[in-house]
Amino acid sequence: MNYNKPKEIVLITGVSGMISKSVAMLLKLNNFEVRFLSRTKKASNQFVWDFSKNYIEPNALTNVQHIIHLAGANISDKRWTKKRKKVILDSRIQSTKLLFEEVQKHQISLKTFISASAVGYYGTTTKDVIFTEESPCGNDFLAQVCILWEKESDLFSTYKNTRVVKLRFGVVLDSNGGALAKMIKPITMGIGAVLGNGKQYIPWIHIEDLCQLLLYSLNNSNMIGSYNAVAPQHITNKQLTNLLAYKLHKRIWLPKAPSFILKLLFGEMSSIILKGNRVSCEKLLSSKFTFKYPKIDEALDNLL
Ligand SMILES: NC(=O)c1ccc[n+]([C@@H]2O[C@H](COP(=O)([O-])OP(=O)(O)OC[C@H]3O[C@@H](n4cnc5c(N)ncnc54)[C@H](OP(=O)(O)O)[C@@H]3O)[C@@H](O)[C@H]2O)c1
Repeated sequence: MNYNKPKEIVLITGVSGMISKSVAMLLKLNNFEVRFLSRTKKASNQFVWDFSKNYIEPNALTNVQHIIHLAGANISDKRWTKKRKKVILDSRIQSTKLLFEEVQKHQISLKTFISASAVGYYGTTTKDVIFTEESPCGNDFLAQVCILWEKESDLFSTYKNTRVVKLRFGVVLDSNGGALAKMIKPITMGIGAVLGNGKQYIPWIHIEDLCQLLLYSLNNSNMIGSYNAVAPQHITNKQLTNLLAYKLHKRIWLPKAPSFILKLLFGEMSSIILKGNRVSCEKLLSSKFTFKYPKIDEALDNLL
């Protein structure tokens, strides 16, 4: 690595997020200067924004060459009321709109705009079909969020030829929180159970691979458009629950948690855990990206 080269500045949206913390560390190690946009300011490299007021702190975008847009209200924190759905949607769409307006207003010469999206783009549905980037989009709430989010991100490609990369994340497995912590907790308490019929697929990716993919997307000009950010190995809820129990030296003795109870408990949000989809990472592999953790067994050994 050439440390004499001037550092390129990457603006990451969301500072408290599970992914933003990890990717920021990796980018710094790779000679990038990192700035954040956040709803609250706690350090000098953090800038405040409020998309509901169309506000971004002055100079947040000065000399920025890349944006990684990760901010968005968590989809599994609260029940999906009408109000919560609006927050989930607005925090992604309005924030992207605001970023685009600011980039144009200040004539920022952006090289790359990378946005998170999700495999929810294809709809959560347990079918044998394996979704590729060419597959049609779904029609449930999360699919609508992803479609609109990606559409908004595409605007950047109309401005100064900015390269746009949209990464459709699978469930990101990290030892510091997120879905893995939620899956582990009941198992360690001895009340783990397979959810629904257990046949739903869980497209997943190890946090380290995801951060490497974000870095790879910054550095490689041949990365353009949408990519499924999921590991090659496909796994169902039943297989993952049993594997976690095995690795944690626990037994799954409870019967499967019935779908109707989970629907009562979580409402429409239950679709995240009761339905899944099977997603291909062939396009990423063809782009010469290599996974450190292609297999769930090794990923869990590393994370647990
Ligand atoms: N983790 C996964 O398994 C997964 C899977 C698929 C897609 N994704 C997507 O990838 C992105 C990053 O994921 P993550 O797990 O790191 O998310 P996270 O831990 O929930 O963090 C999201 C970030 O968004 C900001 N944020 C939260 N609520 C907001 C709101 N109402 N308005 C504006 N900003 C808000 C927060 O930043 P501040 O507090 O600093 O403002 C927070 O740091 C998310 O958009 C998520 O939907 C994640």
